[in-house]
Amino acid sequence: PGAGLLDRFGRQATDLRISLTDKCNLRCTYCMPAEGLSWLAKNQVLTAAEITRLVRIGVSRLGVRELRLTGGEPLVRADLVEIISAIRSEHPGLPVSMTTNAVGLAKKAAALKIAGLTRINVSLDSLHPGTFAQLTRRPFLDQVLAGIDAALATGLAPVKVNAVLMRGVNDAEAPDLLEWALSRQIELRFIEQMPLDADHGWTRDGMVTAAQTKALLSTRFELAPDPRRRDGAPAERFEVRRPGDAGLLGTVGIIASVTEPFCADCRRTRITAEGKVMSCLFSREETDLLGLLRATADDAEVADRWRAAMWSKPKAHGMDHTGLDSADYVQPDRSMSAIGG
Ligand code: GTP
Ligand code: 5AD
Ligand code: SF4
Repeated sequence: PGAGLLDRFGRQATDLRISLTDKCNLRCTYCMPAEGLSWLAKNQVLTAAEITRLVRIGVSRLGVRELRLTGGEPLVRADLVEIISAIRSEHPGLPVSMTTNAVGLAKKAAALKIAGLTRINVSLDSLHPGTFAQLTRRPFLDQVLAGIDAALATGLAPVKVNAVLMRGVNDAEAPDLLEWALSRQIELRFIEQMPLDADHGWTRDGMVTAAQTKALLSTRFELAPDPRRRDGAPAERFEVRRPGDAGLLGTVGIIASVTEPFCADCRRTRITAEGKVMSCLFSREETDLLGLLRATADDAEVADRWRAAMWSKPKAHGMDHTGLDSADYVQPDRSMSAIGG
């Protein structure tokens, strides 16, 4: 008792990511198929009470120190504000963040802030309506931009924006995206596309690598390593300046999951909307906690099973030594939207 979520490789998971729903109102090509997926039935999804109980077990017994709410799209959950309020009133010191596509956020940002949400990360890949619609298969760019403005206005800070570059679609826009983010004190992060799309359309050559992203940005900006500690974060940060000008404009992050994996410092434990522990984004094993919760197990039993699930966390992506771009990589059955990013 008292032991945290340790694994065989000496890592301890202190960052909990809970997926609130498998549903989403966008259909990003690198994540979901156009027709969507077959959504879980309501009774298969964690209730608000089950979520708060899992957070309680994580915080009080397993050393969880940070919580991130993910999806699918967490904003489609009608009880989102209640969930955050309940968690924050029970754990006032626990940072609670959310990863969202920001559709519909404008209306809810203030309520989320009052409920105790600390900060948000917004997924946004293009500032052009046509490109946005091509990537997300939905015409909601204006709503997303309004959502980001509302988040900035209510002080859900820092606001980070995640962009996945897709070759020939939005990669040429990388410097413009950075210009836009810098002008708003938004921390932009470029993410290498990972093989987690439901269409299984990922290819090594199709992916825009971290090195290519840096080259694209260098056409307009100078990047220098950010001296702050990385602390297990997926993003490697760079200071951004204009060539020949010492003035610091801000920072940009690059999340190189494929070409420079950061598994050795991973601090994450994930719970899917169905209440299953995933020890890694690429794990092919899931450990059910929802069944235990509903079978009236006590908190100690739930904690034990969660701990056991994390103990078998793989050393790196999926299988011990195989990288995401190796021939041996086997894509998990779930797509990104069903894992929670
Ligand atoms: P911050 O605390 O703001 O740094 O959050 P974050 O970057 O961990 O969370 P976010 O949900 O914004 O994720 C950004 C990108 O990092 C997404 O594409 C995630 O899938 C990816 N990511 C997050 N955790 C992991 C991980 O454990 N492994 C890999 N390979 N990618 C991850
Ligand atoms: N590869 C990389 N990032 C992805 N995301 C969704 N699918 C993928 C993928 N296949 C990103 C979203 C969101 C975050 C949670 O994960 O853009 O910002
Ligand atoms: Fe929805 Fe996020 Fe997947 Fe896009 S990446 S379809 S916003 S869950």
